[in-house]
Amino acid sequence: DEGLHPPAYPWPHKGWFDTFDHASIRRGFQVYREVCAACHSLDRIAWRNLVGVSHTVDEARALAEDIEYTDGPDDNGEMFQRPGKLSDYLPAPYPNEEAARASNSGALPPDLSLIVKARHGGADYIFSLLTGYIDPPAGVEIREGMNYNPYFPGGAISMARVLFDGLVEYDDGTPATTSQMAKDVVTFLNWAAEPEHDERKKMGLKAVIVFSTLFAISIYVKRFKWSVIK
Ligand code: HEM
Repeated sequence: DEGLHPPAYPWPHKGWFDTFDHASIRRGFQVYREVCAACHSLDRIAWRNLVGVSHTVDEARALAEDIEYTDGPDDNGEMFQRPGKLSDYLPAPYPNEEAARASNSGALPPDLSLIVKARHGGADYIFSLLTGYIDPPAGVEIREGMNYNPYFPGGAISMARVLFDGLVEYDDGTPATTSQMAKDVVTFLNWAAEPEHDERKKMGLKAVIVFSTLFAISIYVKRFKWSVIK
């Protein structure tokens, strides 16, 4: 059973030459940190990756320093705790898969680093999933501890609805409605899965400009050289 097909949303970064909305990436990071990070890791993102994307160096360093990391061994062969550095990766909520499953009635919250690329429907699917929780239709039985979501293949998902109006408080004053938070966290996760996205599109634009100029020159030169023969 496939899930309900999500609508195609007008993401600001959707066009050939459109880059991400970086204010949205910043808000989305806040949603990830305050909501999703309780259950989902984001293994491929280090604090330094946020610098110049959504945060300043000082902000990213302060976020890293809020987390205690285990490091070592030191000169005496002992492990020790130290505050995070820019080069550290975002911390995972559970030490291993067994612990993750034990806390989620057997289900595994997937790492979200590449989820936008990994799931059919990408950003549209994840937005729809986060905002799509409804009561099961008449006749559909949902097991205890499971939740009904028509966008999830099979309809029964072990993740409950997590986003509710006003759950976070954005520092830029944007009202944190359910759909606003879903849009922001999906934009953040889309960036995490494709950090090279903006650079790629800027290079694409340059390539189009350079090659169309060269093409125009070659047409001009061809007409000029062949004019005597015609
Ligand atoms: C699954 C996103 C918060 C627990 C998922 C999936 C996504 C996702 C994209 C994969 C769905 C699929 O397989 O197609 C998010 C986001 C969150 C969030 C963006 C924050 C806004 C949470 C929280 C918990 C949680 C707070 C734990 C309380 C799970 C579990 C699954 C899951 C257990 C596996 C579901 C299953 O396979 O039945 N989540 N999640 N998630 N999430 Fe979350």
